[in-house]
Amino acid sequence: YSTFALGLVSSFGLAWINTVQANISLTIRQDIAGNVSFPTLYGYMYEDINHSGDGGIYAEMIRNRAFQMNDTGGTPDLAHYSSVNGGGSSSTIHLDSAVPFNDVLTHTLRLDITQVKQGGRAGFSNEGWEGIRIQPGEKYTASFFAKSSKYTGPLTVSIESSSGTVLAKATVPSVSSSFKKYTIELAPSVKTTTTDNVFVISTSTTNASGSIWFDVISLFPPTFKNRANGLRADIGQIMADTKPSFFRFPGGNNIEGINAQSRWKWNETIGPIETRPGRLGDWGYMNTDGQGLLEYLEMCEDLNMEPVLAVWAGYSLDQKSIAEADLGPYVQDSLNELEYVMGSTKTKYGALRASHGHAEPFDLKYVEIGNEDFFSTTYDYRYKAWYTAIKKAYPKLQIIATGGETSSPMETLDDHYYQSGPAMVADYNKYDNHPRNGTTIMVGEYATNVNGCCGTSPANMQAAVADAVFASGLERNSDLVQFAAYAPTFTRDGQAQWNPDLIGFNTEQVWGTPPYYVQQMWSANRADTILQVDAANGKLGPLYWVAGSKKSTQQVFLKVANYGSSSQTASINLKGGRVHSQGVSIVLSGGVNDTNSAASPKNVVPKTSTFNIAGGNTFNFTFPAWSASVLLLDNM
Ligand code: AHR
Repeated sequence: YSTFALGLVSSFGLAWINTVQANISLTIRQDIAGNVSFPTLYGYMYEDINHSGDGGIYAEMIRNRAFQMNDTGGTPDLAHYSSVNGGGSSSTIHLDSAVPFNDVLTHTLRLDITQVKQGGRAGFSNEGWEGIRIQPGEKYTASFFAKSSKYTGPLTVSIESSSGTVLAKATVPSVSSSFKKYTIELAPSVKTTTTDNVFVISTSTTNASGSIWFDVISLFPPTFKNRANGLRADIGQIMADTKPSFFRFPGGNNIEGINAQSRWKWNETIGPIETRPGRLGDWGYMNTDGQGLLEYLEMCEDLNMEPVLAVWAGYSLDQKSIAEADLGPYVQDSLNELEYVMGSTKTKYGALRASHGHAEPFDLKYVEIGNEDFFSTTYDYRYKAWYTAIKKAYPKLQIIATGGETSSPMETLDDHYYQSGPAMVADYNKYDNHPRNGTTIMVGEYATNVNGCCGTSPANMQAAVADAVFASGLERNSDLVQFAAYAPTFTRDGQAQWNPDLIGFNTEQVWGTPPYYVQQMWSANRADTILQVDAANGKLGPLYWVAGSKKSTQQVFLKVANYGSSSQTASINLKGGRVHSQGVSIVLSGGVNDTNSAASPKNVVPKTSTFNIAGGNTFNFTFPAWSASVLLLDNM
């Protein structure tokens, strides 16, 4: 059996020659030219699902900051706020639609103060997203808009434990009679991380009275790369750790809309956060859209990812399509969006982007038309309309199709795989004989479901190893497969709508699942050329492999998945090259059902070791049961 892929074997974690009888021999063919691998191969697919945006990767700590709608997209309410009355003072809070903040934020929080007693206070608190995480050494930026009917005195802004211990406080000197933005820094002096905290705005002015209206009440921690309105730093970092090459956004279902009217509208996700109305996302809960088009593009800059921007293409989750004759305004809307992303500051939308703080046009290379349009019967005319208009305006943009049956040119096709372990393993060869006719492949979503799609399947070792087999097959064919992304990327602990997911988090911590570590190992150890591997004295399965080399580092990589319950030893031979006498192995292994969780976030993590190589090109390596391994060899 001969493959264009990697498959290496080493003595797991030990610096001695493995003398165990080999189950298979693998010869890595550095003596013959390999196929060039697309440098974009591994990246992320992102949409707000499983409460992963607001209260997740988007660093905003206040929940329901602008009363856009309630948690499930309905009439706004004051959920997550409570009255604060100390020392016998009395006040109440109300949702006020009679005093809107502006045209899009039509509800405000009104604090009615009856009486503030000497030494007391009146105000309100916000409980955040299952608490507010305060970490040693961090400073927090609080901001809000407020105006008052008659009270002109100071306001105290504080972060407090839920039992009332003040961790940090600062004072806004006065409140104006028309809406004004107040920004203040809070610097808690704490020795340990805590989350059981609330955010409070109050007045302690004796005899204060009257009404004060508030809106866009915000609290930000330091963000990833210190980006304003940016990412939760630990979540940004766990993404960065996989060295991703692309970012497919904003969906997924979440771009489509439950109906056309509720689609993701790019122009409602840009500009100052107080001008964004928010929307009911396709996953059944409110999206603030605080993380919008510009934030996603800046995230690509900060994580060094190529943006793959999906544009809405006239089809929504109610399975209704815009009629061909009516497409014009929607296609134009996408062109406006592209101008916002790529236009010079001399263009209308390029100038708008500049006014939002990013004068430099983004170097967008990839646009996807729709999402999962294989579910529709109308993609042919819709794809044609978008493809033709985009190509005319931006001939260099690479267009990605999400349905196969189109009569217009197809540059890239997005295939999705949510399958059982055996089906994923069977698809190791999926693209081996796929025509190389100029149309490249994006596997824009994939995940192994060991317990059926897509409700309760755990992200366990069996799933992770099947992912590793499948990804190895993609990598072996990465002269054709240009992009591959696991989906969904994130889940908030206790809020999963879809399983498995790559990364879990709660208010305090973030953790990779076993499939995450496979992604990290496969993506961070990237070859530029895929090498043929000849197998002898054994056959494919339970070991699956891909091999490659990287010119800039003179390295050879062998990635091997053992999709089985017994360890397997392979005799590895490198033909056409000699490597240093010591290799490095990165091995992820565990029990078939093992996974990571909030209680045990590092139950399964990769282990890095060294192993010896005899004579510059030969060694045995034993791959543990249910394992995914990367072996690194340094060419001499
Ligand atoms: O990843 C979850 C969902 O799966 C995506 O939103 C959709 O594209 C697919 O059906």
